[in-house]
Amino acid sequence: MNTELPPFSRRRWLRYAAAGAVAALSPATWPLLRAAAPPSRDACATDGDFTRPLPVPGADGMYGRLAVGTQPLALRATATASGFAFEATAAGGSYVNPTLVVAAGTTVEIALSNALPEPTVVHWHGLAMDTRNDGNGESLVPPGGRFQYEFTVRNRAGLYWYHPHPHGATAGQVYRGLFGLIEVEDDDERALRRALDLAPGTTEIPLILQDRRPGDADRYAPAPEDELLGWYGCLPHVNGTLRPHLDVGARMYRLRVLNAANARTFRLAVRRDNGTPLPFTLIGTDGGLLERGIRCNEVFVSPAERVDLLVDFAGIAKGGFAVLETRRFDPMQAVPMVPAREPAAEPDAHGHGRSAPVGSVADGAPLDLLQFRIRDSATSGSRLPAQLSRLAPVPASAEDPRPLRLGFAKGRWRINDRVYDASATPVVVARDATETWLLRNYHASAPHAIHLHGYQFRVLERETSPDWLVPLAVDGRGRLATDLGAKDTVLVWPGESVRIAIDFHHPFPGSQVYLVHCHNLEHEDAGMMLRVRVG
Ligand code: C2O
Ligand code: CU
Ligand code: CU
Repeated sequence: MNTELPPFSRRRWLRYAAAGAVAALSPATWPLLRAAAPPSRDACATDGDFTRPLPVPGADGMYGRLAVGTQPLALRATATASGFAFEATAAGGSYVNPTLVVAAGTTVEIALSNALPEPTVVHWHGLAMDTRNDGNGESLVPPGGRFQYEFTVRNRAGLYWYHPHPHGATAGQVYRGLFGLIEVEDDDERALRRALDLAPGTTEIPLILQDRRPGDADRYAPAPEDELLGWYGCLPHVNGTLRPHLDVGARMYRLRVLNAANARTFRLAVRRDNGTPLPFTLIGTDGGLLERGIRCNEVFVSPAERVDLLVDFAGIAKGGFAVLETRRFDPMQAVPMVPAREPAAEPDAHGHGRSAPVGSVADGAPLDLLQFRIRDSATSGSRLPAQLSRLAPVPASAEDPRPLRLGFAKGRWRINDRVYDASATPVVVARDATETWLLRNYHASAPHAIHLHGYQFRVLERETSPDWLVPLAVDGRGRLATDLGAKDTVLVWPGESVRIAIDFHHPFPGSQVYLVHCHNLEHEDAGMMLRVRVG
């Protein structure tokens, strides 16, 4: 089914906001926003151009695969000509934002040195970690300083990532390019690669999605509207390259996708050259492989989420192509309409709405991300194993769910009416408890990608989802295909409630402090984050 949605809701949100719902948010800025110069479309209008090859991580260089665990790693955060990056020299190679490859169960030692002109710290997103190693931003590494991490990788195989977490400055550092991938490997992972004849760098390829604005990576300067809604660009980058192409064989490929965007959610689909969808198989989520693959035409991937996809190009003739795209959606569908003050602007052919800030297109705008060019006509013989892995049973809790209300008040996005306070711990969980959390997003809100540090959780149910989302549910509990795996980040749409189950067991001595926050990085930096103590 093809649900074409009304385009472009930023204006609707702004109207809603201007109508008084968020009157506390420096009202003086609204007239300014309306008076802003029209976006420079030229810098954004590069659709249809897939001239640059996709950089595929190799044995060194940008995103190069670096095995860790055998010896200590030195990671240096540094300013480069094109932004910020982590650099490492190891095993005779030099790496920029290395992909850390590690076997489950390994203990790693990583020395971070900070050669940036500002404080930073590294957080290992998705990994089970004690507070000292979590890099939650409550202690920082000053310019010229060092920090020694040492931890055991306790997670299942999967694609995780590392990124800075200095509170209030996370968004700018990530946008400038300071992050990398972590691939945890185990026996399930190796069995899958064998069964499907997959090899990292040729038929298994990470895709790091990030939308950017024209100009230097250093040009991160959010206006009040960006701080409210998030920093959106108009130029979709994959693996650091604008709208690239990848030559592929007519066979099965594994695409391991990370949404590294500050704020944008991708509604990922693959389209054949004749415009019809090319279905794919979802085999994994944030915390690793699903038990079984699920056929999909599309998946939503919000900031920090990962999806593991198998795409088979065997049905496309040599010389043909396919395009990875993000499809149109309306992120504010549940926001009640308020009387318009002025006619809504229609987005142009590139989806560039006139009220989006210069150099950006709104969340939900359709964009082409990556072109696959089919270079041979071999056919795929490999079969997906029926069982990919086993997930721990969903933890059951006897208690009432703990509510986390997501909303906006007094000029700030809030969780349970609070903003982040390093000296307050509003969520206290008993040692070894399992809990159900009820993430409730208000109608007059925005999509929030809620992330919990230190744990993988399971999605139990979605309720009061936006009407257009309901047809994508794969079961009677309103869950999406991506809700069936282990998760550390879950998108909650306006008006929606999402029930999650968390097993808070941890092996560390004493109590540990984690964070729960929105991974829209502008929301996070503005304080949409709470401390969680696990006894
Ligand atoms: Cu991806 Cu608190 O982080
Ligand atoms: Cu995290
Ligand atoms: Cu948010």
